[in-house]
Amino acid sequence: MRFELAALAITLALGAALVLFGMAPAWVWPLVPLPYLMRHLYHLVRLTHLIRRRQRLSPPFPRGLWGEVYGSLARYQQRGRKGRKRQVRFTRRFRQAADAVPDGLVILDKLQRIEWANPAAAPLLDVHWPRDEGRRLSELLAQPDLTPFIEVGEYLRPLEITPEHNRALMVSLRIAPFGEHKGERLVVARDITKLYHLNMIRRDFVANASHELRTPLTVIAGFLENLADAPATPVNHRRPLTLMQHQAKRMRSIIDDLLTLSRLEMDGQDTAQGPVDVAAELEPIVHEALALSDGRHRIECSVDPELLLIGNQVELRSAFSNLIYNAVRHTAPGTRICVRWALDADGALFSVADDGEGIAPEHLPRLTERFYRVDQGRSRAAGGTGLGLAIVKHVLNRHEANLLIASTLGKGSRFTCQFPPGRALVRPPQPLIAAA
Ligand SMILES: Nc1ncnc2c1ncn2[C@@H]1O[C@H](COP(=O)(O)OP(=O)(O)OP(=O)(O)O)[C@@H](O)[C@H]1O
Ligand SMILES: [Mg+2]
Repeated sequence: MRFELAALAITLALGAALVLFGMAPAWVWPLVPLPYLMRHLYHLVRLTHLIRRRQRLSPPFPRGLWGEVYGSLARYQQRGRKGRKRQVRFTRRFRQAADAVPDGLVILDKLQRIEWANPAAAPLLDVHWPRDEGRRLSELLAQPDLTPFIEVGEYLRPLEITPEHNRALMVSLRIAPFGEHKGERLVVARDITKLYHLNMIRRDFVANASHELRTPLTVIAGFLENLADAPATPVNHRRPLTLMQHQAKRMRSIIDDLLTLSRLEMDGQDTAQGPVDVAAELEPIVHEALALSDGRHRIECSVDPELLLIGNQVELRSAFSNLIYNAVRHTAPGTRICVRWALDADGALFSVADDGEGIAPEHLPRLTERFYRVDQGRSRAAGGTGLGLAIVKHVLNRHEANLLIASTLGKGSRFTCQFPPGRALVRPPQPLIAAA
């Protein structure tokens, strides 16, 4: 700035001196700053030209204000170049990471069109990028459940599919919200073929073994009963025979539960479903629970009689009864049990709460595992096999419902079945029949 002011002052002073000493006419004086202005114009035009052609500004730079402008712009350009380089490097690393991921990754825009996919998406989903860019994923995969799955964006529950292009594959799809715009999705596809087959082998093994054991056990139980009742049986044999009968009954109930679990796992989702009158189902269960408790527990019910649930009657009855019987079996006498069935903003809720001794937090995540019991001895003595909650969980899965377990030691437990609002049905009012 100082240089510019000095240059202007010198130019004007020179002009004034020329005019004053009579070396130039007076009209020349206003023209004296012209070279100064021409220099500015030259640099302005040059800079505009360089910027327009995206040329790199490099020294030497002119002196004065223009030097500062050139220098600042050059630094700015250099910073931009570095930033761009860093961005390119980062994008390349990100691509390399995405390419190395064994899971298929597909980015969908808000209209479910493919924006990008990694190479692993090709063998798993037959999605090739950039070839399939702009196509809809549902159109490529031809899976009827896919569109609602992506639209709803069920982030927790995966969808298992067998893709058309390779029927030997079993792929698990998960959806993750993605990007800045609403409706954009990241689809993660994982090859679960091995896991699926192993699971099938385990399922078949359990089903077959249980099935095979059932008949011999029925025969043994039958003979034990005959022997226990026969008058010729010596008196000292009666007690062991009764114990054997009791154990055979237990084994029978374990086998029945295992078969129920296998059936729940094997049957498709399309088992008989319809409106279930939950209140009517609960009535005999509560009576049975009262009989089981034999007056040692207080059972309170808050049941909406007009609220129906779309589902499978037999499966729901088994799940609800298990939760109610658990509250009786696994709590001390004097416990208060509350059975609730009501509609809520989150959907239809069935819950069984007790103010019993509760369950320690470390057991809660494992309660729905097969044969898992908090206290093996006590549960067995109470007649439990530890399969009940596993059955409940399976039944709820088949009804798109969640099992929520909340429990505090010394305060009690609450088991809640949360059904989606779409499964709740409020009974239409009965038409009044006019008396004749
Ligand atoms: N209301 C409850 N209060 C305290 N503990 C409970 C309660 N409900 C379940 N449990 C614990 O969870 C375990 C698992 O329950 P689950 O219903 O799976 O098996 P079970 O009742 O022992 O046997 P089954 O239901 O197969 O006859 C039980 O053994 C018990 O320890
Ligand atoms: Mg149980």
